[in-house]
Amino acid sequence: MKGVILAGGTGSRLFPLTKITNKHLLPVYNKPMIYYPIETLVNAGITDILIVTGGNHAGEFLPLLGNGSEFGLKHLNYTYQARAGGIAEALGLAEHFIDNDKVVVMLGDNVIEGNICAAVRAFEKQERGAKILLKEVDNPKEYGVAELSGDRIVRIEEKPAEPKSNLAVIGIYMYDRDVFDIIKTLKPSRRGELEITDVNNAYIARGTMTYDILQGWWGDCGESIDALLRVSNLVAQTGANKMDL
Ligand code: DAU
Repeated sequence: MKGVILAGGTGSRLFPLTKITNKHLLPVYNKPMIYYPIETLVNAGITDILIVTGGNHAGEFLPLLGNGSEFGLKHLNYTYQARAGGIAEALGLAEHFIDNDKVVVMLGDNVIEGNICAAVRAFEKQERGAKILLKEVDNPKEYGVAELSGDRIVRIEEKPAEPKSNLAVIGIYMYDRDVFDIIKTLKPSRRGELEITDVNNAYIARGTMTYDILQGWWGDCGESIDALLRVSNLVAQTGANKMDL
């Protein structure tokens, strides 16, 4: 299983903090934001990792992360997204890296309290398809939201005005290599991006999407300045990426 961390985009919801740097280099309590998703993947045993970044500050990831020795890695892979064309477009740049393997994709602005070990082990055994992680939230309108029928996931809506549940789709996705064929069929959304929610709905339509509910808190630091502060406080209070949760 390989890992991809998406750290491009414009970070416009965190302006002016992101005017002079990449969002994922901003501090979350005592570490740069990008450290947290790397730790999450490494904790789950994923050591072959590609970081997709973009914008004017992409070069700063190299002196910060180098070859990943701080995380116990021998090497880190990097690639560049020329414009912020969406999460699915950024993932499409990883096709050569994933080859015939499966992939765990993590958004570079997501931080979790616990770990994803059980979900990753379950996905290793899943013959084909995809797996997502859901988390109950108070503000579902800010996220992709899952609609369930009984235990079955029937659809995901991106930032719906009238959410069908309070289960957010968090920014950790597991896919087989079919994901790259699906991405090639996508059309840009109203905001001009290739949407990861369209990828997930394609897997749901094929009947090969599974999900788990994430244990412990989850934060999307890129949602707002308040969310960034909230996640920093949660990290300070409880720590992130704990293996005993
Ligand atoms: O955090 C979870 C949410 O993330 C999900 O619930 C939503 O379904 C999903 O669409 C996404 O929503 P956001 O609006 O938070 O996505 P955002 O544009 O902030 O992008 C998330 C990360 O993806 C960000 O840290 C950088 C990366 N990214 C984004 C874009 C648009 C790229 O690498 N390239 C891009 O072009």
